[in-house]
Amino acid sequence: MTDRARSALPPGVLSMHVLPAEHHDHDWDAIIVPREVKERLLAQALLVLQHGRQLSMLAGLPHGLIVLAGPPGTGKTTMARGLAQVAALALARQGATALLEINPHAFPSDMLGESQRNVTRLLTETVPEIAARRPFTVVLIDEVESFAVRRSAASFEANPVDVHRATDAVLLGIDEIAKTLPSVLFVTTTNFIEGVDEAFLSRADLVMRFALPDQETIARILEHALGELAVQWPALLPLTKNEARLSELAALCEGWDGRRIRKLVLAGLAQRLDVARDPAKLTWTDLLSAARKKGGVEWAGGQALTSREMFPDVAKDLMHDHDHGHDHGHGPHGHTHTHQHDTDSRSGS
Ligand SMILES: Nc1ncnc2c1ncn2[C@@H]1O[C@H](COP(=O)(O)OP(=O)(O)O)[C@@H](O)[C@H]1O
Ligand SMILES: [Mg+2]
Repeated sequence: MTDRARSALPPGVLSMHVLPAEHHDHDWDAIIVPREVKERLLAQALLVLQHGRQLSMLAGLPHGLIVLAGPPGTGKTTMARGLAQVAALALARQGATALLEINPHAFPSDMLGESQRNVTRLLTETVPEIAARRPFTVVLIDEVESFAVRRSAASFEANPVDVHRATDAVLLGIDEIAKTLPSVLFVTTTNFIEGVDEAFLSRADLVMRFALPDQETIARILEHALGELAVQWPALLPLTKNEARLSELAALCEGWDGRRIRKLVLAGLAQRLDVARDPAKLTWTDLLSAARKKGGVEWAGGQALTSREMFPDVAKDLMHDHDHGHDHGHGPHGHTHTHQHDTDSRSGS
């Protein structure tokens, strides 16, 4: 369950979950990467969460920092969330894991010194307070390039001194947490690793580079996406078993990212009105045609039908005439559409 219901979230915190939790398995399962990739990532996380205290005695101590880098839509954020759940499953017997999602855009500020203060508050107050409540803590910082801005590239920023100070505060905070709260794990993602500060990257225990999926992976993503549709519309289950068609479709998606590949299935459903209204009617023709159009629309075809030509038989009592969302029925101007109406009825009563 989320903590959001119980208390207001601290500034800069997007969400907070206590894991493992039911319904949090799908993120990890949705991302299709080789087995070794997932195992390496999980091993890195468990090493810090479980043995951080002992390892913090080493001269080369872990910083509890993982960086997932790569093009947009390659599964980094989903994988980071999934990792928190799977690590929490592994550690469940030893206690709960808090997952804290940070909004990196909450920190840059126009006010001089404010970014630095915000970062410092997050890393010296918020994270330690939350880490004190549960045995394990995972902090997810998405788009970390706006949190740990590369100082060597910040010289043209509006306020380079402030950017420098904020990044300095991030490094100080990470170093301090590595020493005093060694079972806190930071999982960060970036679409633009060139924008992430070098000293931040050098603290990472693991930098994992994501790439666009190859053709076999594309086929597996399509299979997974169709499988999810088949849960809702079981008639579609045979689609997931047709290897020849899956690879034919995958070949058309070469160079696409995972997000776009999943959206292709939706575009397939929206090729024909008939299918949009009854997804069980989806065919390979729809999917292949959506892929050939690259998920977009062909600007072609005859004259479009009018609304009533398309839907001639919608009964009169289903029409919401004059209902524009105002609380009509009160006051003298029950059916007017102007905002004047509201002021009128208030002053007139
Ligand atoms: N390798 C992959 N396997 C399966 N789905 C993927 C893969 N990569 C991306 N996706 C899907 O694409 C969408 C975007 O993923 P996301 O984690 O937000 O990517 P990123 O953070 O890298 O931009 C999600 O629905 C995810 O399931
Ligand atoms: Mg992302």
